Amino acid sequence: MRCRTLGLFLGLATSVLAQDSTVNQYYSALLNDSLWFYEAQRSGKLPANNRVDWRHDSGLEDGSDHNIDLVGGYYDAGDYLKFTIPLAHSLVLVAWGGIEWYDGYAKTNRTQDLYDMMRWGTDWLIKAHPDPNILYLQVGDGDVDNNYWGPDTSIPTPRPSYMINATAPGTDAAALTAAAFASAACLFKNQLNDSSYAETLLSHAISLYSFAETAQPFQVYTNAIPQGKDFYDTNVFYPQLVYGAQWIFRATGNTTYRDKASTYFDQGQLAAATTPLLDWSDPTGAVYVLGAGIDNTNTKYSTAAKSYLDTIITAKKGGPCSFTSGGLLWCGGYSNSNSLIPAQDTALLALLYNVYDKSRESDYNSFAIKQIDYMLGNNMMLTPYVVGVHMNSPVNPHHAGASGGTDIGNINSSPAVEAHVLYGAVVGGPDEDDKFFDERSDYDQTEVALDYNAPFQSLVAYQISAGAGDPPYASITQPRPKVTRSHHIQKWLIAVIVIVVVFALAAIGYLAWLKRHRLCGGYNKSRV
Ligand SMILES: *[C@@H]1O[C@H](CO)[C@@H](O)[C@H](O)[C@H]1NC(C)=O
Ligand SMILES: *[C@@H]1O[C@H](CO)[C@@H](O)[C@H](O)[C@H]1NC(C)=O
Ligand SMILES: *[C@@H]1O[C@H](CO)[C@@H](O)[C@H](O)[C@H]1NC(C)=O
Ligand SMILES: *[C@@H]1O[C@H](CO)[C@@H](O)[C@H](O)[C@H]1NC(C)=O
Ligand SMILES: *[C@@H]1O[C@H](CO)[C@@H](O)[C@H](O)[C@H]1NC(C)=O
Repeated sequence: MRCRTLGLFLGLATSVLAQDSTVNQYYSALLNDSLWFYEAQRSGKLPANNRVDWRHDSGLEDGSDHNIDLVGGYYDAGDYLKFTIPLAHSLVLVAWGGIEWYDGYAKTNRTQDLYDMMRWGTDWLIKAHPDPNILYLQVGDGDVDNNYWGPDTSIPTPRPSYMINATAPGTDAAALTAAAFASAACLFKNQLNDSSYAETLLSHAISLYSFAETAQPFQVYTNAIPQGKDFYDTNVFYPQLVYGAQWIFRATGNTTYRDKASTYFDQGQLAAATTPLLDWSDPTGAVYVLGAGIDNTNTKYSTAAKSYLDTIITAKKGGPCSFTSGGLLWCGGYSNSNSLIPAQDTALLALLYNVYDKSRESDYNSFAIKQIDYMLGNNMMLTPYVVGVHMNSPVNPHHAGASGGTDIGNINSSPAVEAHVLYGAVVGGPDEDDKFFDERSDYDQTEVALDYNAPFQSLVAYQISAGAGDPPYASITQPRPKVTRSHHIQKWLIAVIVIVVVFALAAIGYLAWLKRHRLCGGYNKSRV
């Protein structure tokens, strides 16, 4: 017994020493788990060192409908579709966190994993950009794919691929993907020491950005590819044009791009954006923060960044967000599904802003840490919203492959327990009452996706870099409480009900009046 304990203790001590004795082991494990989640999302031919034993080579014919190679990359969510937009957005957020908090990866010996994780995405983006004026944005038919629930060994076909090009442009998608290439180029060059790969990425960024700028008219990609509308429907392109130029400026120092960014910022009137949340559809919030960090020739970015973050963080009346009673940032319609996305993205921007300007440091920091703590267990459900890290972690992520099920009509109970633990996956999150039901079919709450883990991974890198102590779930020993759904009646529904009732009463009144009138002889009189 003693020997065993001593052995365990020595084992733990050596593994801690092998990394860095100041690193919190929970955060270290979370970083590894998040990287593992991306590994579980890999499409294509898997390498020999693949750690996810229930995943196989898949999507090996992708691109064949256009005679090109689109094999590889990442599946977007719990399904088997591949989308460029959320991938590009996610790669920027991971690269950005990797650039600013690289020591979070270095202290935990996760730099090689970061390299592999980023490169699995950027290698595919290179394939998706086979010609200066062509970018593939989607592989797989939404209807075919979403009618399938099962393992990666029998993904349904056909898996058509969809592109933008000079005659059918997508300004938003091209510019956002340029941002992904350029931000990754910064990371590969300065942190991951692969300058030659960084050069390749940069040349794609520049050429893609030129495509974004020259293909006319400027338009959102769904004009070219309506099939994407049901999944990733964007409605802006100026923020992406600014973002792409900012990242190329950061990667090259070429002031032409700083000036392009500034011009598009003004043309798109981004300083006055009303709900500039950061997500795959609109990087305006990120543009403020990045601009504040890299362009010291004007103050418009930092002014906009502070006004945006202050409005959200103080839950200003008339602003886009408030807080749930448990303290989760809640941004109206944005939070109804995937509630942890606005919370994480805003926390990430607040912490990134602190890197460039300390004037709001304590407010932004305490806001961000509260959101991180909430998602890691400091909530009514006593639940860290990360799969596989605690007994209260979600056990029913909406993920066909991990679930082990094959019956799309019965995804909740077949099988009763998911076959595979999807370690490190961040789920959509709780509802406005801080309640979480952990049901596989409830994709608002339990879906997982590339863009849910991207801000998360950067937040974890920050926590390690900042020397954070244990996350809240480390001390949770109570099981997750059972809760039932509350039925909120929407305000508009109340209005409709009131109107219907008023009309009904009026109608009854009128009929009664008619009847009485008739009985009183009006009708008879007219007959006479
Ligand atoms: C660090 O990670 C690499 C692979 O990613 C592994 O080969 C090496 O053994 C690890 N080192 C330590 C000290 O854990
Ligand atoms: C990384 O996470 C995976 C999944 O939880 C686990 O199997 C593996 O042992 C972890 N590796 C390290 C070095 O902690
Ligand atoms: C250009 O893209 C559009 C939209 O995806 C597509 O319909 C068209 O066939 C493409 N043009 C060429 C020459 O491939
Ligand atoms: C890149 O080089 C720097 C400086 O030598 C080092 O700190 C860092 O860990 C290296 N990164 C990788 C991935 O080897
Ligand atoms: C900066 O970028 C512009 C636009 O791509 C290019 O024409 C110019 O040659 C670049 N300048 C330098 C110094 O590389």
